[in-house]
Amino acid sequence: MARLLLTGGAGFIGSHTALVLLEAGHEVVVLDDFRNSSPKALERVQELSGRSLDLVAGSLGDPATLERAFGGGLYSRGGAIDAVIHFAGLKAVGESVRHPLLYWDVNVNGSRLLLEAMDRAGCRTIVFSSSATLYGMPERTPIVETDAVRPINPYGHSKAAVERMLADLCETGADWRVASLRYFNPVGAHPSGRIGEDPEGIPNNLFPFVSQVAVGRRPELQVFGSDWPTHDGTGMRDYIHVMDLAEGHRAALDTLLREPPQLLTLNLGSGRGHSVLDVVRAFEIASGRSVPYRLVDRRPGDAAETVADPSLAAERLGWRTSRSLEDICRDGWAWQQANPSGYR
Ligand code: UFG
Repeated sequence: MARLLLTGGAGFIGSHTALVLLEAGHEVVVLDDFRNSSPKALERVQELSGRSLDLVAGSLGDPATLERAFGGGLYSRGGAIDAVIHFAGLKAVGESVRHPLLYWDVNVNGSRLLLEAMDRAGCRTIVFSSSATLYGMPERTPIVETDAVRPINPYGHSKAAVERMLADLCETGADWRVASLRYFNPVGAHPSGRIGEDPEGIPNNLFPFVSQVAVGRRPELQVFGSDWPTHDGTGMRDYIHVMDLAEGHRAALDTLLREPPQLLTLNLGSGRGHSVLDVVRAFEIASGRSVPYRLVDRRPGDAAETVADPSLAAERLGWRTSRSLEDICRDGWAWQQANPSGYR
């Protein structure tokens, strides 16, 4: 059992991971400023697990918040943090193009401040939320970790910069244990339908958009591009069930805590690609609703196909995905139906 700090632990991936870690018997401290998440997610995580977690409300840019998180003795159980899982950050590609300095500040500077606080506290184990976005326009699929890191937007650059910062720390000889996990497309929800993804405003991403069309919140989906070199002309992605992803974090953490200090850089994906129209059809079957769509032009910056080679994660963590596109749609629909307006 370890005492774990989850930055951004109230968010989509953070809340599902918090649940998996509580169920595995770990103690969880969540640091979150709720700028893009809800305290309700944490209430429900505690309900589902039957265990309580500690909350430090605030952001990484605030020194007092970091001080409290690393055991300023202010919360009930106290004790040192053994490891950090660092989810906190901004993740909208379009917003990053309009406000690059915001991304360098929140994602890069926020991570630097966190790492300094960890170093001061003598906590040198971290799992970092990286992203397949840093491969940019991949030259081939499936993508392996040694393929070129070539981000094409400020969001991607911010993820690559934090990976670089972590790799530099691992070179200092100070016994850092680091896992940079490059997520492919995280989707779905906990099968209870109690926690799930709750984007603010109009969703940028395919899955929340499709579920909002199915539930009647939006009239139709726009399919971005029908002339891609794929089996039906629409873009292919590697969709990973958020519970598989949460279990991947647990496996990464176990590996870091068990093995000698090291830097792990791993793709977390299923290794399978599905097109936009595959997703629409699977969601229609899972929901029993129709998902009207219109084929429109390609979205700038999109790639035809992004699929992980997940074999290194299987080898190093003994982890692989076990949930299918059908599972993703069933669980995503259960969440959407029970919470048509998310946590609001
Ligand atoms: N798509 C549509 N209509 C929509 C939304 C998306 O057709 O309304 C299509 C896209 O063109 C793409 C696929 O659905 O072919 C998936 O798009 P998403 O926006 O859901 O996901 P992306 O692969 O573009 O982006 C995801 C993450 C980003 C990350 C990126 C690269 O959301 O944070 O992967 O790894 F940067």
